[in-house]
Order: sequence, then structure tokens, then C-alpha cells
Amino acid sequence: MEEIRVGLLGLGTVGSGVVKIINAHQDRLIHQIGCPVKVTKILVKNLEKERDVQITPDMLTKDATEIIDNENIDIVIEVMGGLEEARAHILRALQNGKHVVTANKDLMAVYGSELLSVAKENQCDLFYEASVAGGIPILRTIVDGLSSDRITKMMGIVNGTTNFILTKMSNEGRAYEDVLKEAQELGFAEADPTSDVEGLDAARKMTILATLGFSTNVELKDVSVKGISSITEEDLAYSQGLGYTMKLIGLAKRDGEKLEVSVEPTLLPNTHPLAAVQNEFNAVYVYGAAVGETMFYGPGAGSLPTATSIVSDLVAVMRNMRLGVNGNSTVTPQYPKVLKNEDE
Ligand code: HSE
Repeated sequence: MEEIRVGLLGLGTVGSGVVKIINAHQDRLIHQIGCPVKVTKILVKNLEKERDVQITPDMLTKDATEIIDNENIDIVIEVMGGLEEARAHILRALQNGKHVVTANKDLMAVYGSELLSVAKENQCDLFYEASVAGGIPILRTIVDGLSSDRITKMMGIVNGTTNFILTKMSNEGRAYEDVLKEAQELGFAEADPTSDVEGLDAARKMTILATLGFSTNVELKDVSVKGISSITEEDLAYSQGLGYTMKLIGLAKRDGEKLEVSVEPTLLPNTHPLAAVQNEFNAVYVYGAAVGETMFYGPGAGSLPTATSIVSDLVAVMRNMRLGVNGNSTVTPQYPKVLKNEDE
């Protein structure tokens, strides 16, 4: 391969981070995969907008077909967000034989099984590490790192915006609306932050984590969800006084033959490791039958952390291209939703 050509769907906070990392780490990418990686086309809504990334005007387009139908593009990175339009673009890209990397948790939580099947049919990779916990390589850890174990429980802070809000309200006594506005300005929050504060974003991520961690087909509607919008500074101060810290906790656990997945504000003793996770940081506790307790910590949102996961997926696709083994991304096994406890 002389060069790998990448098309980007979206150039917002995360998309800009992807361009920056590909440019800044070009030597390292060449070292890893043996040829240069070039972003050649980028889908944007506004061609005129000023941007703080190194691009030329000819790279920008408002027409997605210039990327997904472009035979000179090998890999499509989807960072536009949203559901139906992103799904249509990814389906078409896969059907055109392009590998896809996406950060879209909404999409993977709802259409993941379908998209992964289409990827496999077309011998394409579809990777989505950035969809859960931003810069923490948690999906790879669950699928590869703990592949020899049987996961029994996962418990995590998987939404950076709500953790930022709870931290600032609790430590600085600031009002909910004021901190939410700052989280939006810093680029952590979703376009519509309702999905952050009402727990839906975390529920989507728990759907993906539970599907992979328990090798079953968890659906978003299976997750019970409660957000943080009704929590006050007084609630947080009162619980701190009693030695507890409030966190929005995503939980997925085996309970006999059942799998329970939930997202809800939870009081943790101040000594619990998850209680120490502050601001936009995320952490996922994973319990394995053999390994015992493990915890993975890092930035859960933001431009460069999320882009790091995306570009690592890009490297994984390119390594597979060199080996000629694309098309084996994890496809959700269609096991029954009620799990049999393997030890019983
Ligand atoms: N809005 C999300 C969060 C962005 O705050 O965690 C990263 O998925």
C-alpha cells in the first residue's frame, strides 16, 4: 500500500481531534503500518466556517457520496453523530467495501448488531472503541484483554458530562445549570445535553459494554435509566457530610440466570475508588470470575482523548488490511437474553 486514504464524516470537536492526531503522529503511524495515512475528504455542514485544524478547502464537502461512494477512499471515520443519517452512510460505505470506524454510541447501541453483520458480509472492519468511555480502551479490554475470563459484573462512570457536573456541584457548591453550561462549552456534552443528564448516553454505553462483556444481545430498552437532573447542591452536600459521594453509575451484572443493566445516581462511600473519579473522567470496574477486580480509568470525553481511540481503531483496521484479515469485528452473538450461569 502506498498510502491509506481516509474520509471523515463530521469535523466537530472529535473530528478535529482526529485530523490533529493523524497529522501530528504521522511518523508513528507510518512506523506502525508502513505507509502514510491521509485524510482526503471531510463531510461538513458549513464550508465557510473557520476551523483550528490544518486542512485545505478542497478537502471539505457537503456531499457524503464524495466519501462513501469514492473509490479512492479506503476507510471512513464517522464522527457526525445522530442516528438515521449516520446509519445510512455507514451501511452504504460498508456495502461499497470500505472499513468504518465510528464513535457513535447512539448508533452502535441501537443498530450495532445489524451494522456488524453487514460489515462481516462485506469483509469489512467496523470498529467503535471511542463509543464508550472516550480515551479508555475499554472495549478492547473486555473483548481481548479479558477474553480468557468470565465477566460477572461491570460498574462504571461512563458519562463525562454528568461526572463533571456532580464534581463541580459537590466540590465548589456551583449550581447545576451553571456547570452544565461549562461542560457544553468544553465540548463534553452532547448537542442535546438531555441525553447526558437524563442518563440516556450512559445507558447507550452500558448497552454496548454489556453486549460485549456478557456476549449477549442487550437492547437499550432493557436498561433501566435515571438521570441527575433533579439532584441539588444540598443533596450532594448532605451526602458528603455523611461520608458518601453521589455518582451516576452504570451497572451490568449477572444475577443468577438474569442480566441486569441499569444507570442511576448512586451513593458511594467516599473510600470507594469510583468516588475519587472527578470531572469529565470515566472509570469502569470490571469483575472477572478468575481475575477478580480490575479498574480502568481515563478521560471519558473531549477532543483528543476520544480521537485517540478512533485513530487506534484506524491502526487496527490498517494492520488487518496488511494481513488481509478484515471483516472479523466482534459481531454480537444472538444468544438468548436470559443468560445461563455457566457455573451452575
Ligand atoms: N457526552 C458524552 C459524555 C461524550 O459526556 O460522556 C462522550 O461520549
